[in-house]
Amino acid sequence: MTDPSGPSAPAVLAGLTLEEKAALLSGGGTWETAAIDRAAIPPIVLTDGPHGLRRHDPEAAGFSFEESLPATCFPTAAALGSSWDVDLLEEVGRALGEESRAAGVAVLLGPGMNIKRSPLCGRNFEYLSEDPVVSGRLGAALVRGVQGTGVGASLKHFAANNQETDRMTVSAEVDERTLREIYLAGFERAVRDAGPWTVMAAYNRINGVHAAQDPWLLTRVLREEWGFDGLVVSDWGAVLDPVAAVAAGLDLEMPATNGVSAARLAEAVREGRLEESALDRAVLRLLKLIERTSPGTGPRTGPGTGPAEADFDRDHALARRAAAESAVLLKNEDAILPLDPRADLRVAVIGEFARTPRYQGAGSSRVKPTRIDAALDALTGAAGPALRLAFAAGFTLSGEEAPELLAEAVAAARDADIAVVFLGLPEGEESEGFDRAGIDLPEVQVRLLKEIALVNPRTVVVLANGGVVRTSGWERHARAVLECWLNGQAGGGAVADLLFGRVNPSGRLAETIPLRLEDNPSHLNFPGSEGTVVYGERLYVGYRYYDAKGIDVAYPFGHGLSYTDFAYSGLSAVVEGDGDETVVRLRLDLTNTGTVAGKEVVQVYVRDVACSVDRPVRELKAFAKVALGPGESAAVRFELDARDLSYYSTGLGRWVLEPGDFEIGVGASSRDLRLAATVTVDAPPPVRPLTLDSTLAEWLAHPEGGPLLRRTMTAGHASAMSDPAILRMVESTPLNRLITLSGGALASPELEDYLAR
Ligand code: BGC
Repeated sequence: MTDPSGPSAPAVLAGLTLEEKAALLSGGGTWETAAIDRAAIPPIVLTDGPHGLRRHDPEAAGFSFEESLPATCFPTAAALGSSWDVDLLEEVGRALGEESRAAGVAVLLGPGMNIKRSPLCGRNFEYLSEDPVVSGRLGAALVRGVQGTGVGASLKHFAANNQETDRMTVSAEVDERTLREIYLAGFERAVRDAGPWTVMAAYNRINGVHAAQDPWLLTRVLREEWGFDGLVVSDWGAVLDPVAAVAAGLDLEMPATNGVSAARLAEAVREGRLEESALDRAVLRLLKLIERTSPGTGPRTGPGTGPAEADFDRDHALARRAAAESAVLLKNEDAILPLDPRADLRVAVIGEFARTPRYQGAGSSRVKPTRIDAALDALTGAAGPALRLAFAAGFTLSGEEAPELLAEAVAAARDADIAVVFLGLPEGEESEGFDRAGIDLPEVQVRLLKEIALVNPRTVVVLANGGVVRTSGWERHARAVLECWLNGQAGGGAVADLLFGRVNPSGRLAETIPLRLEDNPSHLNFPGSEGTVVYGERLYVGYRYYDAKGIDVAYPFGHGLSYTDFAYSGLSAVVEGDGDETVVRLRLDLTNTGTVAGKEVVQVYVRDVACSVDRPVRELKAFAKVALGPGESAAVRFELDARDLSYYSTGLGRWVLEPGDFEIGVGASSRDLRLAATVTVDAPPPVRPLTLDSTLAEWLAHPEGGPLLRRTMTAGHASAMSDPAILRMVESTPLNRLITLSGGALASPELEDYLAR
């Protein structure tokens, strides 16, 4: 079948029995699809993902996340998301694809596209951002990179899988507008822009319906609206009822069910409970996936097809570059960083993480790295002859009290010109499968930092964590804080590059760091109870909430410092077209005003000044990472389209652009807008169909209903309502009540006729 001269997919399908078709729709094993030798349908391998290949070692006995073949562990999504670098993510995707292909893997299970709703989600390290434009654009780039090598990507976990607590059973109760604007928007962008070959249906329920069995989600939205033409695979074990799943639009249940699901599917067709055409559709999609990926399975060479062997050295270097691009310099008082590696300086390197890096998370994404760079070794290797490094562990990874380690670390800090303290979350605190209990660093680490700062005020903190940690309890004890996330196997080298100024930090927060966990908008609704989690904060996720409420945060969304400075000037905003054809063209000048090369992430936020529905005070709509040499300037251009200015109307069932003014803010974070412009957009005002339940205000605002009702009102019977004070009082009353209250005076043959039409 994979032979281009072989029979086409429809011909293959026509030759299959009902039982064979049913058998193809669940796994042949844990990581491969079912094969039908008679019809020459081969199995293909799907495996994790997302930031490195976890290919189960066929030689290993039993199953364990540790027993996989070595592969490059790239920075996790928490890090990559903070790079805001579309090209970099495509490059990482390409490397992931090439390593997959070399290992005979057809589909790499990633990227993770879920929104970081709460910092407590145990799996936030696998997700890109709290904002759908960041996750959508970066996710699309990863997909393009992976698929460019002939390996399929899998957008996961579709959808509203924003917590690990009760992940297989919980129902996320989310209104449709919030789903569309926040939780689906990143998936949508990646589907439309990058055409992923697979999407993975999540474990959880959405408004009561299992995601893997939801026809609205898997067929109406994903395929009919967004035009997805690939295969929907279930998360591993997400299918409860295979018949409902296939009917809803799921194509492949994973992993194998030892024939149980196949028997249920075949029986349902025989008994007329499931159309055979639903099976045919799913089988065709599987055949298409096999065709799309078969040139990718097994080592090959040729133009655009990548090397026959994985190039682990090249990928390690890329992982180092990616880690450096992803680190966020949160603060840097008195420009204490970078350190000069050639200086005559005594540096105390403190913290076990400097020697034993924490660089990836736990669960299905766990990669067996090809090698691991520790920051301590990298710093030692890069230091000049006059720079003397002393190391002290300070704490143990198991977290137990160790006063002698503390004393040793304080002594090292006292004897040094500068102390670089590596802090972070212990391995066991964040993982797939459970949520975090809090967002604080371990007490013993905070105490260590405070003691060090007492003896050495020149103290710098380097952080390693997947989900955000609270900084407000301790950051006054540090002159600089470098947030490195879980930054992959080459992260240690990247940290040395950043501390020594070989690389200028250019990461930006893709997630707000709140002052306190309690400030997070989902706080009172996370993780829910009795099988339900209510997304009560609606659209106001992350900065959309903090900014609307004017709540102080430790570090805002989009924030990140550099060793240089950037000046923004000359914003122009021009509107072309109207309605759905509206395009807003933005142009500004960006200048590197410092003395070293650096990269700025220019961010564009939009606010609808007046709208008939509530909207966030600002929403990110575009961004660009721009590299500039010292003193260099560049013009930066963006294009916003009608969708960028629209909200999703549940009443009208579509995206709506309302006419009027929009404020455009351009700057370096959601709280650091440097330039502003207001544009006026022309679009037809949204017209909602009128019914007897529509309010008086809705009737009066309607282009046809308004004049009609006014005629009825001024016909004498309901003239009291022409008094503005009375009108204001009754404007939210539905027309049917007004007709009753007016003793029928408001009813008229013309009105009845209009409603009938
Ligand atoms: C995870 C997925 C993963 C799959 C296969 C599931 O438990 O939720 O992200 O791809 O296992 O390992």
